Amino acid sequence: MRSELNRLPIRGRVVIGEGERDEAPMLYIGEEVGQGDGTEVDIALDPLEGTTICAKNLPNSMAVIAIAERGNLLYAPDVYMEKIAIGPGYPEGIISLDLSPRENIEALARAKNVQVSEVTACILDRPRHARLIEEVRATGASIRLIGDGDVAGVIHTTDPDETGIDIYLGIGGAPEGVLAAAALRCIGGQMQGRLQLNSEEQIKRARKMGVTDPRKIYSAEEMASGDVLFAATGVTDGNMLSGVKFTREHVQTHTIVMRSSSQTVREIIARHQDMDKF
Ligand code: FBP
Repeated sequence: MRSELNRLPIRGRVVIGEGERDEAPMLYIGEEVGQGDGTEVDIALDPLEGTTICAKNLPNSMAVIAIAERGNLLYAPDVYMEKIAIGPGYPEGIISLDLSPRENIEALARAKNVQVSEVTACILDRPRHARLIEEVRATGASIRLIGDGDVAGVIHTTDPDETGIDIYLGIGGAPEGVLAAAALRCIGGQMQGRLQLNSEEQIKRARKMGVTDPRKIYSAEEMASGDVLFAATGVTDGNMLSGVKFTREHVQTHTIVMRSSSQTVREIIARHQDMDKF
């Protein structure tokens, strides 16, 4: 990913990457990429979203990147973020992190014109979500628990007929929140995120990155504004993307590329003949 970015005629800066400079050997936060001329852009990336999923060959791990003009991606510190997301086609503002899970699910069911029991919420399977899971179950809605990969979890709300997921709820990584928001800006849908800054040290770190209100609720537009480009390539097979396939002759990849200003969604099936260049 890094060597390909360095071939592009951009002045790119990694704002969400593999970690802080002293922890990550490459694609660290603040690293300059590109040929050094052309448009100034900010880049959020996760070369392997769902590391554990990939290691276990489970569905939905992928390589993701979002690019926007300088200053248009939230510099999210590497902390948790509370998230809520639904797909396109609903009235603006029907969901909110300020509402209870019950209120959100009932509002969504009303807007979708279905019973609450026909709504499915996607939640990361974590002990911290025990109460949330209980609350959602009490409404009668279904739950799809996922082991990892909440970028895919959020994106899956945009195509409930295919994925069976109507709403994403819960706490995951803040960097993944910005990546998911970039994707929703391109396909449509609503999302909110609130950083989980639980210590003085985290609040200080966030302040350094420009976060003045630690309890602020960010909309998708505030996390990824302006013209945003989002791309994801499947690593393992998933609902939206096929994983990398190795044959005797080539390696095949499946990529989705989307752009917010045109709302264009392109899918690319690529056969890479030269394994060394892959
Ligand atoms: P990695 O690819 O970095 O392993 O992240 C996977 C992931 O499941 C994200 O999709 C999610 O936002 C985050 O981890 C949740 O963090 P935790 O595993 O600490 O609950």
